[in-house]
Amino acid sequence: MRTLILLIAAALIMGVLCAPHKRTWRVISTDKAPRPENPRSQAIITDSGVIETSGCNGVVPSTGKMISDDLGEQMVQSMRNLGAVLEAGNASYEDVFKCTVLMGDISYYDKMNQIYGMFFNSSKLPARMAYAVREIPFKGKVEIQCSALSRD
Ligand SMILES: *[C@@H]1O[C@H](CO)[C@@H](O)[C@H](O)[C@H]1NC(C)=O
Ligand SMILES: *[C@@H]1O[C@H](CO)[C@@H](O)[C@H](O)[C@H]1NC(C)=O
Repeated sequence: MRTLILLIAAALIMGVLCAPHKRTWRVISTDKAPRPENPRSQAIITDSGVIETSGCNGVVPSTGKMISDDLGEQMVQSMRNLGAVLEAGNASYEDVFKCTVLMGDISYYDKMNQIYGMFFNSSKLPARMAYAVREIPFKGKVEIQCSALSRD
């Protein structure tokens, strides 16, 4: 009898341990970065702690408007918006392992690099793709997206 109970208990424990793990992800949202007015999340986080952000541009969260027409200002605001979204996922710039940067014109490349570089540790830079595209939504000059690992 005792052996039978032990066998049943062991079977139940094995069943729980071996049950297929359903992978999930959650939406990250914050008021400290612009709220999307289109069908997307600011970012998502997988159950293993990988964060994927949407593209961040130079819109100021409090006004909902592009900060200005200036490339440098848009670049700084885009990076700040990215930082705010990362923070909502318990991550920061140092947790970023990959970035994608879109520019409205390839002549923005040097200035973009100069400002981009100020936000990261030069000994541990994320991998990156950066390219010019024909147009960026809302007449933006730059748009930045990243992948990061949450600290929690
Ligand atoms: C960030 O950490 C806080 C405190 O541990 C937690 O409540 C929150 O759910 C975390 N955020 C995400 C997106 O995991
Ligand atoms: C920059 O990254 C290097 C290599 O991972 C690390 O040793 C150093 O402490 C980091 N510096 C800062 C300021 O975080």
